[in-house]
Amino acid sequence: MLYDLLTFGNIIIFLFFVLCLVILVQGTKRPADIPPGPKSWIPLIGNLLELRADDPRVPFREWREKYGDIYSLYFGNKLVIVICGYENIKEAFVKNGDIFSERPDLYLFREIARREGIVSSSGHFWKEQRSFCLATLREFGFGKTSLEAKIEEEISPFMHVLWESKSQPLDIRRMLQISISNIICNMTFGHRFEHDNEEFLHFLQLVDDDLQVVGSNSVLNIYPILRFLPFDPFKIEMVRRNIDKIDEYFVKIIGEHKENFDENNIADFTDAYLKEMMKHSDNPDTSYTDRQLLKVIGDFFVAGTETTSTTLLWIFLYLLKFPEVQERIQNEIDSVIGKHRQPSIRDRLSLVYTEAVIMETLRVANVAGMGIPHGVSKDTYFHGYKIPKEAMVFGNLDSALNDPIVWKNTENFEPSRFIDDKGMLIRPEEFIPFSNGRRVCLGESLARMELFLFLTSILQRFRITAPENGELPSLTGTFGLVHQPEPYRLCVIPR
Ligand code: HEM
Ligand SMILES: *[C@@H]1O[C@H](CO)[C@@H](O)[C@H](O)[C@H]1NC(C)=O
Repeated sequence: MLYDLLTFGNIIIFLFFVLCLVILVQGTKRPADIPPGPKSWIPLIGNLLELRADDPRVPFREWREKYGDIYSLYFGNKLVIVICGYENIKEAFVKNGDIFSERPDLYLFREIARREGIVSSSGHFWKEQRSFCLATLREFGFGKTSLEAKIEEEISPFMHVLWESKSQPLDIRRMLQISISNIICNMTFGHRFEHDNEEFLHFLQLVDDDLQVVGSNSVLNIYPILRFLPFDPFKIEMVRRNIDKIDEYFVKIIGEHKENFDENNIADFTDAYLKEMMKHSDNPDTSYTDRQLLKVIGDFFVAGTETTSTTLLWIFLYLLKFPEVQERIQNEIDSVIGKHRQPSIRDRLSLVYTEAVIMETLRVANVAGMGIPHGVSKDTYFHGYKIPKEAMVFGNLDSALNDPIVWKNTENFEPSRFIDDKGMLIRPEEFIPFSNGRRVCLGESLARMELFLFLTSILQRFRITAPENGELPSLTGTFGLVHQPEPYRLCVIPR
């Protein structure tokens, strides 16, 4: 009898079950000293199924209540540390910035950017490139009047398209993307594209398609091996193809700059970069290379376009839902600027309510979602918990921007929360839609200028209303790499 059971086949089946058991136990076991968190019962998947595509903010908030401000999850087999609450995010990203400012080694960072550029690079390389880029962008206008001129240059064609709509319902998403990316294109390589340029529209579509695929919880970051599946179900081949086309485009532009290079006429970021590259040409280990320039331009383009144009879409959607807010902004514009003078950056100081509306939208819409994952430079301890070098670390921006302890009625849209009783604008520390610390968004001041000038220029001349049938999407939105409102249309009516 016993001998019968021990046939070869049965032994194989027995060993197979033992193996499954081991995988189940090992695959769902949590190391003792990492932060607490939900148990993942399914090895190889972890907590991914609990993320809820319709609103991932909900489970993250529930986990904070259950496990505290610092907890951990598994995206597949990848350990994810979530840091909640403004004070804790500050403690990690600011006070311990020398440890918490890396990027984790994710497959998609490697595939798309070879861990070059700014967004996905780390260590000394990133530090050198980031400080050069920041200094150079400042020189080309961040916070200066020349940048204001560049933004205004894009507002007039935008207004023109609005006039032409003759108050018919209009989806302004693409138009906003074109205008906003034109501003980046002007700064980085001195180009602009017309609103009906088919080639550029196609180019924006490539970027859009890639952004749909490359979230940090993307299955490909977790199991890169899946890219070898037939028929490309996770679209990694599409991403690669798109990246190649995008790169090809920028390579051409860089080539043109090289041909016409004149070190006494540095007109844009690319010129400035080429000049810096020459300074380092004797150093074989230099971080200033053609390839790096290409990736930096790509980063500006991708990080700067979608976030800002989406924030404008959110602002307009909130104005449609809260018409009294629109009216109050218009009254403020009328009394401070009047109907004829073009709004200027200097008006930001006086248009307190308008600024408060922009801030409140950045807070409630939180377009950057969970932000971009950080990593640690070495195994480290935080609040007594271990954070291993290979973990992804999220500073959960939602936990600061929507913290019920910090913000009264946090779920309400209340711009006046940013205005004190003397009528002055206040900026609470916890307001961190651009993150904080050494990795803080490189484009914050540019984005804030764009939001202000677009919003005031449009509302000075137009009233926006919902289409006749009144159809507007909810304020929940969809959650990809960027948190977006569902598509909607609005009417612009000359005032
Ligand atoms: C409303 C608009 C924007 C929002 C809400 C936003 C938000 C963010 C956030 C949350 C991060 C991640 C920071 C971190 O890792 O902790 C980031 C990074 C970044 N942003 Fe923005 N951003 C916006 C506009 C822009 C613009 C206009 C640019 C144009 C240059 C830009 C360039 C970048 C770059 C290069 C990084 C990577 C920084 C690094 O890794 O060192 N962003 N942004
Ligand atoms: C870039 O912006 C400047 C204003 O700073 C403007 O004079 C110039 O015409 C713009 N270039 C293009 C190609 O739009």
